[in-house]
Amino acid sequence: MDRPSLPRPGVAVVLRRVAQEIRSDVATARDRDPAARGVSTFEILASWAGVQALLAHRVAHALDEAGVPLAPRAIAYLSRAVTGIEIHPAAAIGGEFFIDHGSGVVIGETAEVGERVTLYQGVTLGGTGLQPGKRHPTLGDNVTVGSGAKLLGPIAVGDGAKIGANTVVIEDVPPGATVVGNPGHPVKVEGRRVEGPDADWIHLPDPIADAIKALSERIVELERRLAELDGSGEGTAAETPELQPRTGRSSAGG
Ligand SMILES: CC(C)(COP(=O)(O)OP(=O)(O)OC[C@H]1O[C@@H](n2cnc3c(N)ncnc32)[C@H](O)[C@@H]1OP(=O)(O)O)[C@@H](O)C(=O)NCCC(=O)NCCS
Repeated sequence: MDRPSLPRPGVAVVLRRVAQEIRSDVATARDRDPAARGVSTFEILASWAGVQALLAHRVAHALDEAGVPLAPRAIAYLSRAVTGIEIHPAAAIGGEFFIDHGSGVVIGETAEVGERVTLYQGVTLGGTGLQPGKRHPTLGDNVTVGSGAKLLGPIAVGDGAKIGANTVVIEDVPPGATVVGNPGHPVKVEGRRVEGPDADWIHLPDPIADAIKALSERIVELERRLAELDGSGEGTAAETPELQPRTGRSSAGG
């Protein structure tokens, strides 16, 4: 039985769409990378690894969706060899995506990336296990992920979130949050510092240290009184060592 044939877009239509996508990718590179401003379109296409990887991924993804065997993986493999950026052909990438510098970026099979997302070099959108199905992160719109950050598992990163360089994220990130450290934790939400009892993770109350310090102070006092009673002069109160630093940078600083 003949299958009803779908109308194919004409060559002119396809060429127009490809030209439009290339223009958009080059404009995105100029917008997000100060080094790309004033650089010709040809030079960006020839030497911006992030742009090359994205163009290759578009082709690989379209072929993968069309069920074409081998070719998507071959394109992704060649793209990785040339750019150092590995994007699985099935990964869903939104518009105006930009990878700056690029080397060492890995984007897994079930990763989903929203609109206007920026990744720097060394970012991993990876899985945490061998289970099939959704196992990679989903990034909202306008997310920025700093160099070396690892986002692991089927977590959701909210719109406008910023992930600091070298952060390891294994839990959902609220929209507008700035997350740093390992494990990643929010230090800002919508540009404002996170306040409240959970904000300072290093200066937690330590009841044991407090009890030892109180006992130690009592011993010093008793020694002083004993010295007065037996007439051996002023007690030389031993220094009580600081049991827990009370000042300094919070763990939010890394
Ligand atoms: C996370 C980031 C976006 C935060 O920027 P910001 O909103 O200006 O925040 P601040 O600089 O005020 O930092 C807030 C706190 O987080 C800490 N912090 C910032 N970035 C951090 C990081 N990557 N790792 C650990 N702590 C970090 C700051 O020391 C500060 O701590 P404090 O509250 O104890 O003072 C930015 O620091 C970052 O890492 N950007 C990635 C840049 C990158 O990868 N560039 C590559 C270019 S090649």
